[in-house]
Amino acid sequence: MCGIIGYVGPRDSVPILLSGLSRLAYRGYDSAGIAVCHEGDIDCRRAHGKLENLIERLKHDPMRGRTGIGHTRWATHGRPSESNAHPQRFGKFAIVHNGIIENFLDLREELRAHGHEFVSETDTEIVAHLISDCYDATHDFAGAVRMALRRVRGSYAIVALCSDFPDELVAARNQCPLLVAVGEGENFAASDLAAVLAHSRQAIFLEDGDIAQIRASSVVITDLSGEHVERKIQSIEWDISAAEKQGYPHYMLKEIHEQPQKITDTFRGRMLEAEGEVNLDENIEKLHLETCRRLQIVACGTSYHAALLGKYLIEQYARIPVDVDVASEYRYRQPIITPDDGFIAISQSGETADTYACLKLARQHGAKILAICNVMDSSIPRAADATFYTRADPEIGVASTKAFTTQLASLTLLAIHFARRKNAIDVATAQRLLRALRAVPQQMERVLEQSDHVRACAQKLLRANSFLFLGRNLHYPIALEGALKLKEITYIHAEAYPSGEMKHGPIALIDDRLPVIVIAPKNPTYEKTLSNLQEVKARGGRIIGIVTQDDDRLTRVCESAFPIEDCEEIVQPFLSVLYLQLLAYHLADLLGNDIDQPRNLAKSVTVE
Ligand code: M6R
Repeated sequence: MCGIIGYVGPRDSVPILLSGLSRLAYRGYDSAGIAVCHEGDIDCRRAHGKLENLIERLKHDPMRGRTGIGHTRWATHGRPSESNAHPQRFGKFAIVHNGIIENFLDLREELRAHGHEFVSETDTEIVAHLISDCYDATHDFAGAVRMALRRVRGSYAIVALCSDFPDELVAARNQCPLLVAVGEGENFAASDLAAVLAHSRQAIFLEDGDIAQIRASSVVITDLSGEHVERKIQSIEWDISAAEKQGYPHYMLKEIHEQPQKITDTFRGRMLEAEGEVNLDENIEKLHLETCRRLQIVACGTSYHAALLGKYLIEQYARIPVDVDVASEYRYRQPIITPDDGFIAISQSGETADTYACLKLARQHGAKILAICNVMDSSIPRAADATFYTRADPEIGVASTKAFTTQLASLTLLAIHFARRKNAIDVATAQRLLRALRAVPQQMERVLEQSDHVRACAQKLLRANSFLFLGRNLHYPIALEGALKLKEITYIHAEAYPSGEMKHGPIALIDDRLPVIVIAPKNPTYEKTLSNLQEVKARGGRIIGIVTQDDDRLTRVCESAFPIEDCEEIVQPFLSVLYLQLLAYHLADLLGNDIDQPRNLAKSVTVE
């Protein structure tokens, strides 16, 4: 969703802000803008649409300044337009804002009663007016921001400029991520590490209620009442190259191909095959989730599909009951949560508003909380008792790929860990499973070599306007994930069903215009799936199968068949999902779609 970058230092801020914004573009946006302090005033340029429009505007109407702020906006209050784009200005101030001001209507009425007039439909403009009013009384920049924000309810990450303080930024956080990146004689503010990784590897992650006064050589942090607070500087290990395309035409394709390495990274140091044990951080061990009466997993989108797989794995191997919910449903359905429950929140970004709200609900009811997350120190890990970090590095493509498989790797390890702690599986079984998992990255590489084969198949499916995905057991969540990937980037309708459920309704759809993508490698439900496919075939359906290598029986009923190696069932989802990611990617590419920033989607959904 929205992205923020701020700079203060000796260099011209404009190119730094623009390159920061280009690194934030992956989050999804509909307008962009920058503002700088220059010769006692503030200069601002904004543009509706892509960042290129802003760059074009700056070519015709350039500006410069050593202190500046930039923003990519994803509309919440007010339609996407130049006047609603950030920075929003009033008086001596310009501000950029991520989040939602909940009491903005009340504040707007109050300000209107005092003669204020507004030029945008945004909640952000209200905050600029409020700060300006507070400043008139104090002439203290940071003090005015603190005073204004004490009146504001809602979520925000805000960075402000004041023309009276040309060497200073003031940044504030409440429930939206914001960090200060510390450089040599220069400092940065950003909503996302990706915006600043090229300049600094030292970051201060602000906490809710923090106000940071940022100058080129100092960062002073207080709370909303002005009390000084200490925040530690953290070293960032993320690989900057992860935020580059590295020769791939799209981030999504690069991220698909990165998966073998990211799975290796996620397994590193955590698998003790010889002992048949999984080695987890002490904080996770100390939670003893395996002793819980029940585990509740909550997530959204792709992370929800990983959660569903987690249920199958944990119940199958560790014999612990697991409930899985979509976060936006869970938070409003008055769930039963007790201190005997373990709660697992899964989120790539760590900022998804619904998932975060569920975690807070679980906290209120005393559950033990584990986060499975990719982004270090984001809101969800901060609020959890412990975090299992997936090590996918920044995921830029809006359609999640490597985050999913690393979540899957994490859940697989947790399932084996719980199973061993409960003695639900013996050492030999754990050793066998861990050895099988160790081979996953190489097996994934071999699947990825089939990319051209998948593209050729995609070429034949270009005219389809709906797809059905089928899978059983571990492959049902993979079918759901395949359908989601396809919808997100091809804009073609797709839905997924458990194979056995097909005859209870969706079979009515089968004809030669509906490609049926079935995931059916050899496993205990293979024969059942084969019968389901015969039903599809008998009705003239087109079948595209993901099958065990040399499975002639199934290959014969398929129009196209994609092989995976004969392997342990626990390994199969890591391989089958790659074909579905590739299929969605190639179809979208052949259709000429904007793959990394599909329409209407944002990378990190920080609003309800
Ligand atoms: O950051 P999160 O994992 O919490 O995000 C959840 C979903 O918004 C996300 O998985 C979304 O569905 C992706 N676009 C899927 O490709």
